Amino acid sequence: MNRDTQLRKGIYVEAEETARQRQFMNEVREINHQYETEHGKKKLYYIQTYGCQMNENDSERLAGMLTEMGFAEARVRDESHLIIFNTCCVREHAESKVYGHLGGLKKLKDENPDLIIAVCGCMMQQPEVVEHIKKSYRHVDIIFGTHNLHTFPELLYRVLATGKTVVDVWDSTGMIAEDLPIERKDGVKAWVTVMYGCNNFCSYCIVPYVRGRERSRSMESIINEVRMLGQQGYKEVTLLGQNVNSYGKDLNDGTSFAKLLYELNKIEQIERIRFTTSHPKDLSDELIYAIRDCNKVCKHLHLPVQAGSTKVLKEMNRKYTKEQYLDLVDRIRKNIPGIAITTDIIVGFPGETEEDFLDTLDVVEKVRFDSAFTFMYSKRTGTPAAKRPDQVPEEVKKERFERLLEVQNRISREINELLLGTTVEILVEGPSKNDINTFTGRTTTNKIVNFKGNRELMGKIVTVRIDKVQTFSLEGTLEETAEK
Ligand code: 5AD
Ligand code: SF4
Repeated sequence: MNRDTQLRKGIYVEAEETARQRQFMNEVREINHQYETEHGKKKLYYIQTYGCQMNENDSERLAGMLTEMGFAEARVRDESHLIIFNTCCVREHAESKVYGHLGGLKKLKDENPDLIIAVCGCMMQQPEVVEHIKKSYRHVDIIFGTHNLHTFPELLYRVLATGKTVVDVWDSTGMIAEDLPIERKDGVKAWVTVMYGCNNFCSYCIVPYVRGRERSRSMESIINEVRMLGQQGYKEVTLLGQNVNSYGKDLNDGTSFAKLLYELNKIEQIERIRFTTSHPKDLSDELIYAIRDCNKVCKHLHLPVQAGSTKVLKEMNRKYTKEQYLDLVDRIRKNIPGIAITTDIIVGFPGETEEDFLDTLDVVEKVRFDSAFTFMYSKRTGTPAAKRPDQVPEEVKKERFERLLEVQNRISREINELLLGTTVEILVEGPSKNDINTFTGRTTTNKIVNFKGNRELMGKIVTVRIDKVQTFSLEGTLEETAEK
């Protein structure tokens, strides 16, 4: 059995693989060191990330490896020596954007043949995409997938050594490469991936095909990572997984997500713990109690409903009915008063009738979500829903999307208006993008609050009086004795 087969089957020892990649990092660093000596500056990299927070977290891992290899981050894309696109394929829109931007790089590569262009992420797990890129975007140098992100140093070394295009996409992996470097941008909040993959196969969703089956990291390695983040000054962690509620099931040793929360809650320097995403079918009472009882776990639950009609939910393979979802929300709110609930909703799933859509609006009115990510159904090749003949016409999807948005925006605003004149505690994240004197933080319920402040407050929990509300954010004034 060769090394690749062993790795794919998870037989290779993880530490051995990490050590192997570290050797390649050293090799590339040597090459880069020569460049630096000759030119008096480091080679620059630029990573463009599409899609979800898991992808953002993967990009932080790539950035960590690149720093180890002697690269520095470029301020603007076109001055860099290495450009990476970390792609998403959950909806068609994300894919088209990648192709557009890739096409745009051709001219840059013509002007600078030494430029290295790499593409990775979920899109690359689809063989037809890889074929298309190989054929139509010949200026791409490296193609790799989600399962072998950790082999990036090796692939980069091969390109630097041979000048030839390298394509290496694994279709699965049995291991999780721990202990690779990671470079996070934000100094207050950090993402921590707790599990990879998804076993649910919702009929519209491509994720299980491109991210593989559920694999949980060990509790020990997550606790160590969060402890280290606390020591580095981070105040908030967001635990990531496609379905964090089933965290630990594959470890078969009694580990559960609730248990993980109780353990992380003990870590002193960390003030807040968030997580996403929760599948309604797996949300246990044990987890509800953990959210209630752990003082650092934020009172916010992202609980994608996807649709309101029980018929559509069944066809989506979501494994709950409209009533079960509403009951679950009741149970959560009874146990954790004041908790914010947000959601994801798809309109225009194949076969969705006006009546089905009204069920979605009904759920939105009944639950009164704090906010919702709303999507028009997008056909994903390879998923069961894409094969259905009863696709909903674009104009109908659009019309429903707009009606849904109007209802949800009204509700979000109404919920925010209840906060007018009250005081809330926020963790200060940093200055706002538009004004350096305005700072941004979030309430435990994940509401964005802008206020006039200063850098010294970053990473602190302060009290703010809310004096203006919008649909997506609040404005407030710092209280005199604001700092906790
Ligand atoms: N079309 C539209 N939205 C989708 N999502 C996932 N797959 C599709 C699709 N094919 C949405 C779901 C999911 C979110 C991350 O993206 O609402 O929760
Ligand atoms: Fe996709 Fe469903 Fe898994 Fe979420 S739970 S990643 S929607 S298959």
